[in-house]
Amino acid sequence: MSDAAPARWVALLAAVTAVSLLHYVTPADNPALHAIYQRLYYVPVILGAYWFGARGGVLVAVLCSLAYAPHIHVAWSQNAAYTASQYAELLVFLSLGFAVGFIATRERRLTNRYREAAESLERANRELRESGEQLRRAERLSALGEIAAGLAHEIRNPLAGMKGALEIVGSRVKPGTPEAEFSAIAAREAQRLEGLVQEFLDYARPRPPHPRPDELPQVLRRVAGLLGPEAERAGVVLAIDADTAPSGPPVDPEQIQQVVVNIVLNAIQASPKGGRVRVRSRAEAGRAVVEVTDQGPGMSPEAQARAFEPFFTTKERGSGLGLAISQRIVAAHGGTISFGDVPGGGTKVEIVLPDAGSPPADA
Ligand SMILES: Nc1ncnc2c1ncn2[C@@H]1O[C@H](COP(=O)(O)OP(=O)(O)O)[C@@H](O)[C@H]1O
Ligand SMILES: [Mg+2]
Repeated sequence: MSDAAPARWVALLAAVTAVSLLHYVTPADNPALHAIYQRLYYVPVILGAYWFGARGGVLVAVLCSLAYAPHIHVAWSQNAAYTASQYAELLVFLSLGFAVGFIATRERRLTNRYREAAESLERANRELRESGEQLRRAERLSALGEIAAGLAHEIRNPLAGMKGALEIVGSRVKPGTPEAEFSAIAAREAQRLEGLVQEFLDYARPRPPHPRPDELPQVLRRVAGLLGPEAERAGVVLAIDADTAPSGPPVDPEQIQQVVVNIVLNAIQASPKGGRVRVRSRAEAGRAVVEVTDQGPGMSPEAQARAFEPFFTTKERGSGLGLAISQRIVAAHGGTISFGDVPGGGTKVEIVLPDAGSPPADA
């Protein structure tokens, strides 16, 4: 509307000028033509009112009057009755401009209000649908969680036995033989299974956080120590600015460490060889923000939308639980995890931990 405004004013002025010229060049002995022209003034008045409201309508009506009045005065000064009717016509211009403008503005306002109401209704509908979906998912998950927890519990003990036995076997076979290789594979897979079982249990049986003050820098330092070798194996440069980390709000060190490990591990796994994973943190208006960036392929909007779903994974050997657990932990701390893009390619994951007193209850 505002972009078109100058062009519209030019059109209105052109119309007023054109109609006025018609009046001035047409001889006064042709009243029929003048009667038509005089009504042509309605067009710019109505358009001005429609486009710019009552003020616009009145303004155009005034312009028309200013343009037309001298003509009335000069052309029909002998005919007093006609002159009077023409001056009355100027009043019609003004009333028309005002009335049409008033109605147009009111209509527009009503339409806008209807549109807003329709939009908010749609929003409410969407939210309702989404919360319904969330509820169904939560129900499904709680059943799943029960099963997973029971199963994981059952698996843990025999698995520990297997691991112990495999260690003994591994220590007795001759290095360099196929048997040594097989037992190494078995030990590695048992280790992986143990991690998986632990992840299931963490997800299925979350414990409430026990926050302690000033833990954030230590947590980051420990993550650097824990994941340094992993990064090295993957040929990824891992830079964690633990020393510049703010002390941050009180957090459960074990749980937040698990969150940062999950997210940094994802970043390492997404990185190409020689890629760089950066962990930076800052204090910001009553909250601490930990930012993990990588130079991997980035996340599609679909992956971003589904990343927190338990068991959502795009990896061959992924559990799809890392971010689900992380989100739950951070939510229990009253915080959020969000994704962004890194200019030039890559993912930015932001963990926000608010200073707020009591974290909200978690589902
Ligand atoms: N830094 C990242 N870059 C690209 N994709 C990522 C990144 N972090 C997470 N993802 C995507 O989110 C999915 C879920 O992650 P997660 O819950 O940790 O499970 P998992 O790592 O076992 O796949 C991953 O499979 C991957 O597709
Ligand atoms: Mg992961």
